[in-house]
Amino acid sequence: MNHYTSPSESARNILTANDRGGYTIPTSGLYPYQWNWDSAIAALGFAEFDIDRAWVELETLFSGQWADGMVPHILFHNPDPGYFPGPDVWGGIGPIPSSGITQPPLAATMARRILDMDAEAGAKRMRALFPAMLAWHRWIMKWRLDDYGAVCTTHPWEAGRDNAPDWDSAMAGIDASDVGEYQRRDTSHVNSDDRPTKYDYDRYIKLVQIGREVRWDQQKLLTLNPFRVADPTMSFTTLRAARDLLAISAQLGLEADGLHADIARLDAGAQSLWNDTLDAFDARDAHSGEWAQSVSNASYLCWYAGIESPQMLERLKSILTTVPHPIPSYDPNLPKFDERRYWRGPTWAFMNMLAGFGLAGMGHGVEAEALRLKTARLIAGHGFAEYFDPITGGPAGGNSFTWTAAVWLHWAGRN
Ligand code: SER
Repeated sequence: MNHYTSPSESARNILTANDRGGYTIPTSGLYPYQWNWDSAIAALGFAEFDIDRAWVELETLFSGQWADGMVPHILFHNPDPGYFPGPDVWGGIGPIPSSGITQPPLAATMARRILDMDAEAGAKRMRALFPAMLAWHRWIMKWRLDDYGAVCTTHPWEAGRDNAPDWDSAMAGIDASDVGEYQRRDTSHVNSDDRPTKYDYDRYIKLVQIGREVRWDQQKLLTLNPFRVADPTMSFTTLRAARDLLAISAQLGLEADGLHADIARLDAGAQSLWNDTLDAFDARDAHSGEWAQSVSNASYLCWYAGIESPQMLERLKSILTTVPHPIPSYDPNLPKFDERRYWRGPTWAFMNMLAGFGLAGMGHGVEAEALRLKTARLIAGHGFAEYFDPITGGPAGGNSFTWTAAVWLHWAGRN
């Protein structure tokens, strides 16, 4: 008799197979290292069946923290020629080889959830991690805020939404004519139609060269870096992380000076991303002040940050009924929608989970549950893909993907 593998069993198998001992790769081949926000989601998945392993994931992530508090977006624990750009291109200056940018700070929020799942097992681990998490928060406050208090991304990879239309105008201002020859690896692992274009890649690499040139000196990069965009992903996740750090500090009696004031500043900054003309939360170029005119899945993270928006709720209700597999990473009614190309249309299960956490937390249980069930149907029907076509549900990008498996275990697949 054939053994039926349930989705939950498959999800656990994926986490276990992607475990490289202390950290989890997003998927083999395409992403062979430890990614920052992927790891925070992976920890949540592990917490469902191995709480110790969940804490280890976060501890390994913070083992790569730089002396100034920055936590890199990639930690290159073991060399792998199948990925570009690797450690030699980045020239990271931390305790272990790394990239030179950060990523949306999910770790504190996921750590708080894991602590809630088993406070006894977690209190000691949380206490030990807390100063590192606070140092990362303070680094973001020091180097990434715009004049309004919104949090900026300094590279499309820092926001995590690599080729989102949010960056098109800022990307157009980057001269990448002298970027030189390089060999992409991503398109040898997955379909090139699912990935960013060469035009985008040239600019990604150019920005890495600019940072590396000054050894990631943030003071210098404030003027040298042509790319600085106030971003809903960075703004909403940083605000949420700050609220969670404050709650953890109260629960465990830990020092957290300045967090109240930081939260007020970040709240004002996040609210400043409301674009009246678009009638949605949007990205804003910090150099030019121009709006991106982009309704993305990050626009729906307002509730995750503790910010209410009746207009966003109306939008959400509409896409829950009109888009077969919501939330698309870019609004299908806008001109740049591209249903398979990475962050220009596809649906990402973990972003749905973050939106779902926010909706549930702010009393929108009906929408949270509708989103959860649609996400569950998408994963159960189309597998543990990196992302999905929002119209057909077709799997796209990498497969056997860590964060999609973790989302199933912790949220979408729960009975
Ligand atoms: N997402 C980027 C990549 O595709 C890096 O963070 O390699």
